Amino acid sequence: MATLENMKDLPFHKFFIFELEDLYWAEQHILKSMPKMIDAATSKALESGLTSHLQETTAHVTRLEQAFKALGETPKETKCKATTGILKEVEDMISETEKGSEVRDAAIIMAAQKVEHYEITSYGSMIAFSKLMDHTKVSELLQDTLREEDNANSALTSLAEGGINQQALNEID
Ligand SMILES: [Fe+2]
Ligand SMILES: [Fe+2]
Repeated sequence: MATLENMKDLPFHKFFIFELEDLYWAEQHILKSMPKMIDAATSKALESGLTSHLQETTAHVTRLEQAFKALGETPKETKCKATTGILKEVEDMISETEKGSEVRDAAIIMAAQKVEHYEITSYGSMIAFSKLMDHTKVSELLQDTLREEDNANSALTSLAEGGINQQALNEID
């Protein structure tokens, strides 16, 4: 049975901690960028969907802190290059679209889904690693977050397919 003590020096465990630091940086920067997306949104439905995921994102940061604690580590951030790029793209997609337009909302949904997909794939791998390393508590925390990322992604798809994309298509200058 793997214990935390005899796990600490293993390269895989060290890599796991490094990736936790990457996610910790990512979640905090996603949290900072979400108000810009909410402000930029045209429809109330998108605005409220993003607002509720912002609240969940606050919990994602807290859960990562709890995960570090469960592993006897101090929470530390390592800059996530992928999130830096995706969040830059979010800003570009907002500035490339007209304020108050449906095209703007279609773009924000696309941008937000890029963020969600990155989170989903990261948490998916980290859950598999944590299960393998018997980090049960950490695995549970990450699964709670993954569930919310998945739901946020599905909610964005429903908004896009439930009318926003079609309205964006019908929009004229
Ligand atoms: Fe998140
Ligand atoms: Fe998310």
